[in-house]
Amino acid sequence: MRLPFLLKKALSPARLALALGGILLHPDCRASFWSDIWSLDGHQSTIHVEGPVAQAQLNLFYVTCWVTFIIFVIVASILAYATIKFKARTEADEHAEPPPQGHGNPMVEVGLIGGTVFCLVIIAVPTLRNIWYTYDVPAEEKANAYEVTATGYQWWFKFDYPSEQIVGAGNLTTGNELVIPAGRPVHVNLRSNDVMHSFWVPKLAGKVDMIPNRGNLLWLEADKPGYFWGQCAEFCGDSHAVMRFRVIALSPRDFEDWLSNQLKPAREVPAAAAADQPKAQFASLPLREYRTNEPGVSGLYDGVSPLDAWKAKQFPETPEDPALIAQGRALFAAKTCVTCHTVRGVPGAMGLQGPDLTHVGARSSIAGGLLDNNAEDLRRWIHNPGAVKPGNKMWVNGYVANHITLAPDEEVALVAFLQSLK
Ligand code: CUA
Repeated sequence: MRLPFLLKKALSPARLALALGGILLHPDCRASFWSDIWSLDGHQSTIHVEGPVAQAQLNLFYVTCWVTFIIFVIVASILAYATIKFKARTEADEHAEPPPQGHGNPMVEVGLIGGTVFCLVIIAVPTLRNIWYTYDVPAEEKANAYEVTATGYQWWFKFDYPSEQIVGAGNLTTGNELVIPAGRPVHVNLRSNDVMHSFWVPKLAGKVDMIPNRGNLLWLEADKPGYFWGQCAEFCGDSHAVMRFRVIALSPRDFEDWLSNQLKPAREVPAAAAADQPKAQFASLPLREYRTNEPGVSGLYDGVSPLDAWKAKQFPETPEDPALIAQGRALFAAKTCVTCHTVRGVPGAMGLQGPDLTHVGARSSIAGGLLDNNAEDLRRWIHNPGAVKPGNKMWVNGYVANHITLAPDEEVALVAFLQSLK
């Protein structure tokens, strides 16, 4: 008996204890990890939703689950009844002639067809209602809706704010972090710059494809201020799996504050006080070996909520080294970063291939949401982008094609500059 033997072996108490011990001792294993699994919660849970669109999708999921569960119970009960009731009990039963065969029972057949149609109708009615509901902002809320445009790139997301116009620059544009007002419907236009991507924020709404040369749309709303994880949900090339983004929902007042800061050009750190500032801001900035695609996002923020951690990023880092920042600013042009990235306020930095970096220091994530935005991860990213996000354009069309190399002190200066862009 091969199978029971294996089962017995696998379930021996010592093995179980070892396996459980291994899991419990794993560094990723923390209290919230287990409570998340138990309650089916987590960064991208579709069960613990926080907006009306995702709630409608969840309700539909439950309707389908209940209908199929009831069908399962009925079928399984009949099967169990028949199995037990008509079991062969004696030697004679085993060799008995089969009972007389019927050729269909109209009552049973009509009943089954009717039952199936009934079940499908129960699922179809809320499904159709949901298709209409989730397609676009309901008519009665249209006037209150906020509009943004999300564009998929290999492999990052651009977010445009058409209602926030900047003289000489057009739409307010951000990368990889979509900041929205909480409690207000948001109409999201979906575009793609290259291949098909898909926009998905499990706790709020999704997924809808971003298709080249075709305008798609969805709407979402966050019930209250919060920090939400999103990602591309359509295979789109090498680094599809690490094409992520965040949605940050703010109270109306915080949102207005955020907008007014974003509309400003890049922050400049006055170099006047450079002489008496500590020089070695990043003297100990480490650069260790990383695995390809190794995630840099912990999801843990030293006891504060991700939203509070994000809010803290809006303020200048302390301490800052103005001389180092000035060096980084010069390198940003000298190393031709400006040809692909816009930094409003830095002369020549008007590139549109990569994300707008005017306020990159105020974001909580970098590299398409794969890494936390801190000095260590920022250095890891610009040190070797190809190892963080294989195939990415900054590496292939930038570093490799143009033979761009960065000395260690240049990396550190660029990190200081990018971090200063609040
Ligand atoms: Cu973009 Cu997958």
